[in-house]
Amino acid sequence: MRATAAVLLVPCLLAISHAWDCQIVVNIKNLMQIDAGLGQVVATNTSQIPYYLVGDKWIRLPGSLKHITVGPAGIWGVNKADSIYKYVADNWVQAAGLLKQLDGGGEQFIVGANMYDTPYCLTRGATVGYKGPDSPLPWTRFPGSVKYYSCGPFGCWAVNKNDDIYLMSLNLDCQNKEWSHIDGKLSMIEVATDGSVFGVNSEGSVYTRDGITASKPEGTGWSNIQMGMHMGHVTYDLGRLWVVSKSGVTMVCTH
Ligand SMILES: *[C@@H]1O[C@H](CO)[C@@H](O)[C@H](O)[C@H]1NC(C)=O
Repeated sequence: MRATAAVLLVPCLLAISHAWDCQIVVNIKNLMQIDAGLGQVVATNTSQIPYYLVGDKWIRLPGSLKHITVGPAGIWGVNKADSIYKYVADNWVQAAGLLKQLDGGGEQFIVGANMYDTPYCLTRGATVGYKGPDSPLPWTRFPGSVKYYSCGPFGCWAVNKNDDIYLMSLNLDCQNKEWSHIDGKLSMIEVATDGSVFGVNSEGSVYTRDGITASKPEGTGWSNIQMGMHMGHVTYDLGRLWVVSKSGVTMVCTH
């Protein structure tokens, strides 16, 4: 009897140590995309309405956006025509250029990808100082091809149209090293403010990169996070993993 009990206990402990505890976020439906950073959470729904989370209320932001980001660079977004906007004093001011996706998770700079999958970066000075059409916008164009691009303190991660994964080190002046190829396949990837990396593959499975440190920014390998639903989008900040299913259900997970 005692031996049986001991054997049964071990798989349970293993399962608990890896599990994330997820709850459905009941007061928001049909999100398309979500981004968490620096304690803030923003999202867009499938009707391209942008939201900002305050307490448990999803506050509607003005305008219409297909992608929104929050982080050290502030709040930025793009609309369905790929026009770029920065949130300034309760409203959106347009910034010259066209991007289909962008990310403000780097050290106060912006990265993004345009409709041809060309990667771009905006320096910290230009990102932080941008306040309207008269501010300079020296977009730096990088080699390579990426459809989704996200930065954190230890580097920038991106995926291309074949779902191949790449890592690049980038500083706040948009000075970059070459892309290095990382094993695996993901259709979107997000780097958190603390440097951890999460992504979703084409089948809707969620992965996180293990072993990332300042001296080993590429980490060691991918771990699957069981979700029980096909997921389309993921973001992580301050212990909370936010996931949106392909069917539009949002969950928040802790572990
Ligand atoms: C998106 O949000 C707006 C504003 O709350 C709402 O009217 C619309 O129905 C939402 N779209 C979907 C698909 O739920």
